[in-house]
Amino acid sequence: MTEKLILITDRIITGPLEALSKYNVKFDLLSDPINSKEAGEKIKDADGLITMLCDVIDKDFIERNSHLKIISNYAVGTNNIDKEACEKAGIIVGNTPDVLTNASADLALTLLLGSTRRLKYNTNIVNEGRWKKWEPIGILGNDLTGKTLGIYGMGRIGQTFAYKCQKAFNMDVIYYNHREKEIRSDLKATAVSEMEVFANSDVLSFHCPLTDKTKGVINKANLATMKAGSFLINIARGEVHHEEDILWAINEGILGGVGLDVTNPEPMTKDSPLFNHPDVLVTPHIGSGTIETRTAMTKCCAENILKAFNLS
Ligand code: DGY
Repeated sequence: MTEKLILITDRIITGPLEALSKYNVKFDLLSDPINSKEAGEKIKDADGLITMLCDVIDKDFIERNSHLKIISNYAVGTNNIDKEACEKAGIIVGNTPDVLTNASADLALTLLLGSTRRLKYNTNIVNEGRWKKWEPIGILGNDLTGKTLGIYGMGRIGQTFAYKCQKAFNMDVIYYNHREKEIRSDLKATAVSEMEVFANSDVLSFHCPLTDKTKGVINKANLATMKAGSFLINIARGEVHHEEDILWAINEGILGGVGLDVTNPEPMTKDSPLFNHPDVLVTPHIGSGTIETRTAMTKCCAENILKAFNLS
C-alpha cells in the first residue's frame, strides 16, 4: 500500500484517525495559513486535506493543487469550498453531516432561551455590580410556550431544533425551505412562503446553507415585516445577515432580542455595531462544539478519506 499524506489545517481531536495507520495513511498538521507560500510547498506533497470552515478553498487554490484527491471539510457547510472547481479537477469534497445535528440544534436552543430571557443583559448587571435588588419589572423576558417558531432552512438541524422546541415548549412550527422538503413524522410543522416565515414568527431561526439565494436575506426589507418584539437566531452563516440591519431592527423595537452563533464578518470585530448591545447574545461559531461531536466529526473525516482512496 503506497503511503498517503493528509494535512490538517488546524488542531482537531485526532483519536479516530489512528485507525487509518493500518492503511498507511499518515496525518500531519499544516501549521501555516492554507493560502500561504509555506503551506503551498507542503501541500505539493499531500494527497488530501482536512480543512476548517474558515479556510478559503477557491478556484485559484484548486488550480494550484489539482493533484489532491480529497478535501474533507471539518463541518457540515461547504460554502468555503469552490465545489465546481473541485469537481472539474476530480477532487472529492467531503463534509461531516448528521453527527453534528444534535449539538447544533442544542446551541440554537441555548441562544433561544438566552435571548428570550435576556441572558446577556442580566449577567452584565450581575457582573458589573449593578444588581441592587429583586425587581418586579424592568428586566423581563418572554415565554416560549405556545409561541410560533419559524425555521428558515428546514434541513436536519432546522428540523431537530424545531422538534426539540415543540416537545419542550409546545411551540407551533412554521418553516420556509427553498425546495420542498419531507419533514420527520414526529414533528408537526407547516410550510409557508418566505414572506410568511418573516411575518408570522415570534422566533425566527436560520439554519440554511449559505447560497446566492440566502446571502443577505436577513436585511432591512425583510426584518421590517416581522412582528414587533420578535426574536432572531442565526446559527447558519454570518453572511446570511447584515449586522447594521439587525441593529436597526432592534432600535425600531422590531426585534426584542437576537442570538448569533455566526457573525458578519467572522470573527466579530469589537467595532461591530452589535458587539456591545445587551440584547444581542453572541457565541463564537460553536454549533458543533462538544467533545462528543468533534470526535464524531473526526471519525466522519476518516471515513471520507477511506472512501476516497477506496480503502474501506
Ligand atoms: C458547520 O459545521 O457547518 C456548522 O456551522 C457548525 O456549527
